Amino acid sequence: MNSYIRGIGYYVPEEVLTNQYFESYLDTSDEWITQRTGIKERRRAAPDENTSDLGKRAAEIAIKNAGIDVSEVELIICATATPDTLFPSASCVIGHKLGIGGVPAFDLAAGCTGFVYALSVADAFVRSGAYKNVLVIGAEILTRIIDPMDRSTCVLFGDGAGAAVVSATEEDRGILGFKLHADGGYGNLLYLPARGTAMELTEEVIRKRLHYTKMKGNELFKIAVREMGSVAVELLDELGVDKSQVDWLVPHQANIRIINALAKRLNLPMDKVVVNIEKYGNTSAASIPIALGEAVEDGRIKRGDLVLMVAFGAGLTWGALLLKW
Ligand code: ACO
Repeated sequence: MNSYIRGIGYYVPEEVLTNQYFESYLDTSDEWITQRTGIKERRRAAPDENTSDLGKRAAEIAIKNAGIDVSEVELIICATATPDTLFPSASCVIGHKLGIGGVPAFDLAAGCTGFVYALSVADAFVRSGAYKNVLVIGAEILTRIIDPMDRSTCVLFGDGAGAAVVSATEEDRGILGFKLHADGGYGNLLYLPARGTAMELTEEVIRKRLHYTKMKGNELFKIAVREMGSVAVELLDELGVDKSQVDWLVPHQANIRIINALAKRLNLPMDKVVVNIEKYGNTSAASIPIALGEAVEDGRIKRGDLVLMVAFGAGLTWGALLLKW
């Protein structure tokens, strides 16, 4: 039994924040942001929209594209670092909003690598025969945990969601393999000090802006370039797939310079790399399913193509997954 992505969907909120928006109140420029990151715009969720709302919208499209009824979903996994609340989980809320209460649901916390981790979990459930249709979602509202006054982070992140229905098949297609890694020793390079149980949300904590994400971008950059390349090569070697056989690289969209370096390491021309960072910035666990969804929708990714996903994120976590579309 193989597992494959039977349907994919994505949703991004309407409001567009351009680089000019940040220029209007911060010491930054469109030129700096574009050259250093590749980002021109990102989306921001409306005040009454929550992560579960974005996830639900993406899930509905994925279910429709899979050609199944919502009642056929047997498990929901939502990869997110920004659930509506610490509990209940975003996946429970999404299940309720989809009208399928009773279906098992859990969140998966692996930062920007979340969607790759979640796909591999879905793959294991499907291959074991436990479930036939698993709904995998990556959904984030990062703009609510980023300091709007910190120019080194607020220009990078955006909101959005992507979803995939992972189903069983006996055909020769689907997830071929994955490699996952994590190292908590680097946790302090990207973290949110308060809002968990480690720190109470006191006035002092808020005054010190510890309820916002802290990031050492420069150090992360170097590790991301090194580990994303290594894990991709590790996976391809293990599967006996040559780099030249990869039809599409769908990388996590954190920085165009990281993506360029990864493509170079894999000897892949940029016309084989799915890039949408200019439109959405870094949407963490949502970035790969949004990019995949766009490339399937516009016909770039076709049946039989070898698609390599590579991600890196807070934890630190990193991983790669290869599938035959
Ligand atoms: N506008 C203008 N100047 C800025 C801005 C900005 N928005 N942000 C930072 N700078 C300044 C810095 O203050 C610094 O100034 P200084 O030299 O006077 O101190 C200068 O630009 C250079 O800063 P660096 O951090 O060295 O710049 P760098 O080239 O590394 O780019 C960036 C920063 C874009 C954050 C980059 O390091 C990066 O993308 N890192 C990876 C981040 C990442 O991938 N995070 C997520 C991974 S995990 C996940 O996706 C959740």
